[in-house]
Amino acid sequence: MGNLTAIYFSPTGGTKQYVCAVARGIGSYGELNLTDRETRAREYTFSADDLVVVGVPVYYGRVPQLPDDLLRGLHGDGTPAVFAAVYGNREFDDALLELSGRCEKQGFRGVAAAAFVAQHTFSAKIAAGRPDADDLLIAEEFGRSAKASMAEKDGKGLSLPGNRPYRSFQVAPFIPKGDKKCTACGACVRVCPAGAVAPEMPRQTDAKKCIRCLACVHACPVHARKVGGPVYGMVTRKLEKELAKTEKEARLFLP
Ligand SMILES: Cc1cc2nc3c(=O)[nH]c(=O)nc-3n(C[C@H](O)[C@H](O)[C@H](O)COP(=O)(O)O)c2cc1C
Repeated sequence: MGNLTAIYFSPTGGTKQYVCAVARGIGSYGELNLTDRETRAREYTFSADDLVVVGVPVYYGRVPQLPDDLLRGLHGDGTPAVFAAVYGNREFDDALLELSGRCEKQGFRGVAAAAFVAQHTFSAKIAAGRPDADDLLIAEEFGRSAKASMAEKDGKGLSLPGNRPYRSFQVAPFIPKGDKKCTACGACVRVCPAGAVAPEMPRQTDAKKCIRCLACVHACPVHARKVGGPVYGMVTRKLEKELAKTEKEARLFLP
């Protein structure tokens, strides 16, 4: 095998933990953090001997949409890939199928895939504290199984759930903003994967660019950034009512 790379887009860190755990189960690996805009702007070429683990969070049942297309710079050459979709205990819908379909168009071929549960971005009451130690052990074990399956079946016969055309990508009708506690330290500017917070006006958010990932809310050291308004409150209460009681487990797909 050539190089193993853990590739992830992970504004609040859940996806990163799972992708790295899967990679750990396979072997020693390097990381490519597509959350970072400068990293995402470069091109990355992988050979047929390499192996990648590619993970994204599920947004509205889909792969997150960014103006610059988060997978754009990845180029495979028949490169085997393990896919991961990380979701907040509702559903992953078409995200895994979309991730695999889009990566395949860019020269990768799926050998295994998984959908994992992590704490929901919009509420710490949904799948609270996940991934936990058990989740990460399952992801690591899945990495070992994916490696063994690859040697035996080379991805032939892998089948993923989901529908085409993919469900429509909605955009939540709320955005985070900074309040008067803001010290203009620039943490939100640095972590925003979409460039939606301008350094000269860090309390504001460009609603057209914002992907509602809430990385800025998590990163603010003085808790000045929040999503306000009745709509956000209604959405989170509804999600908590539906999703806080029962927690889902990982779904693993091997040929
Ligand atoms: C805009 C947005 C849309 C989301 N849509 C879904 C969804 O459709 N289904 C679901 O179960 N979780 C959904 N989530 C929750 C995230 O998938 C989940 O919290 C994930 O762990 C976030 O990944 P990260 O920690 O790597 O940023 C959504 C989160 C955001 C911010």
